[in-house]
Amino acid sequence: EHLSGFVIAVDGPSGSGKSSVSRRVASTLGYGYLDTGAMYRALTWWCLHEGVDPTDADAVLAAAQRFPLTIGTDPEAPTVEVDGTDVAADIRETRISTNVSAVAGVIPVREILRVLQRRLISEAGAARGGVVAEGRDITTVVAPDAPVRVLLTASEEARLARRSKELHGAADADSVAATRSQIVDRDKADSAVTQFTVAADGVTTIDTSHLDFEGSVEAVLQVVEAARA
Ligand code: DC
Repeated sequence: EHLSGFVIAVDGPSGSGKSSVSRRVASTLGYGYLDTGAMYRALTWWCLHEGVDPTDADAVLAAAQRFPLTIGTDPEAPTVEVDGTDVAADIRETRISTNVSAVAGVIPVREILRVLQRRLISEAGAARGGVVAEGRDITTVVAPDAPVRVLLTASEEARLARRSKELHGAADADSVAATRSQIVDRDKADSAVTQFTVAADGVTTIDTSHLDFEGSVEAVLQVVEAARA
């Protein structure tokens, strides 16, 4: 089924800046914003909350089938609630980051979330004229027909430095080392189920290694402009 609105699909590994960049692009254009990683994180939160072992695929699927998620698509105030509880901060905790890949690796769970993601994209697109959706499989699986599809990449060094600053407030050797396993191991696990390191056919790669935040936003906006021209 066709998605409503002008869809901008953004994929990339962790630390590529895709969440902050996508959110800013959405607010600049007055579009909706959907963070699909937050959906996998919220489901992981729900599993832990319900006492479900994230590595038990059958139990995770059962949890996904009764997953009471409410996610807002306003880029100025993205909200994530599970069963009425605001989990926006909790889903960034290490206990979620270390378990989310197992949850996201359950294929039937991905199908459930994909249906939900497509509905959210269509609703936000219809309400605002467009939507920026970001994750690992948006350009390939969730919205392969989107008029704008971008892969945001950055060197491992640049991604580690960014995440280290986010998590530890610094990018010194110790902080980077502590961040490395989190980021590199997770990307490796995620690569088994989603393809986000090489651009698919028709997807524009933007390497942000040497771009700052504003430069990355500008680069995505240029791809949008080119698609509209
Ligand atoms: O973007 P993020 O780091 O918040 O995503 C959290 C996890 O969710 C990531 O480790 C992989 C998974 N994910 C996915 O499998 N497919 C998506 N479209 C988005 C995220």
